[in-house]
Amino acid sequence: MENLNKELCIKCGVCTLNCPLGLIEIENYPEIPEDAVDFCVQCGHCMSICPEGAIGSPNSGGRVNGSFHITPLEMGLHMKSRRSIRNYSDKPVEMEKLEKIFEIIRYAPTGNNGQPVQWTVINDPEKVNQISTSTINWMREVLKGESPFMVPIEPLVEAWDNGMDSILRGAPCLVVAHAPSDKKSALTDGIIALTHLDLLLPSFGMGGCWAGILNIVCSQNPSLKGLMGVPEDNTVIYPFMVGYPRYQYQRIPERNQPEIIWE
Ligand SMILES: Cc1cc2nc3c(=O)[nH]c(=O)nc-3n(C[C@H](O)[C@H](O)[C@H](O)COP(=O)(O)O)c2cc1C
Repeated sequence: MENLNKELCIKCGVCTLNCPLGLIEIENYPEIPEDAVDFCVQCGHCMSICPEGAIGSPNSGGRVNGSFHITPLEMGLHMKSRRSIRNYSDKPVEMEKLEKIFEIIRYAPTGNNGQPVQWTVINDPEKVNQISTSTINWMREVLKGESPFMVPIEPLVEAWDNGMDSILRGAPCLVVAHAPSDKKSALTDGIIALTHLDLLLPSFGMGGCWAGILNIVCSQNPSLKGLMGVPEDNTVIYPFMVGYPRYQYQRIPERNQPEIIWE
């Protein structure tokens, strides 16, 4: 390994055991055989797990603080308390906070460490409102025709006419995950990244909601993709509303018991 510091390496073999594809061999020092180098997905696990800091640039990404521990109670409460936010305060979403958020969610896992997910952030209430408006206008056209839509859209249009945005809920910011259309596994990666976003937002005092209706309409009306600033060659993975909640949830609602087959 060209990035190995031989003075620090104690040949413990931990890197070998934790390489996802088992590419690292130890004869003298840890080494990826030449014919296997191209299979390395650059996940950084060898660098990250080396107890001696002998691989790569061990200080570039920050150290894991061994004494830091979130209890199941704390983590469970955090995860159960996350809610879909449908009423947003007028407080704008700060760009610095968005930058910090993306700095964290870029660590979400991706298949083969492919990291294919790209983002468009529309942090402008007026532009977000334009997207809702276009969605509703498209629905009006659909209603004029014969073909039924997969969700009942009359109530959504009616609500809009009565001043209620059921599409993007008046959110000040819309985050759109997308990826180059030829990256087939990107859909799963994008949904995982958005789930990280969903869980992260409350720690910044914010919240969000999956924009499922917009997502369905996007799949039928390509012009929305352009309006959302998604590059032509990319496929929309999912849009997600972001903002400061207008109201605070006080209790955790009931959910079904998990259906599990224990074998
Ligand atoms: C894939 C997906 C799409 C969704 N689309 C919408 C949507 O378009 N509008 C909306 O108000 N809520 C939407 N939701 C929120 C769900 O209604 C919500 O997650 C569910 O009612 C449970 O509430 P909770 O998220 O607060 O636990 C969506 C959620 C998911 C996971």
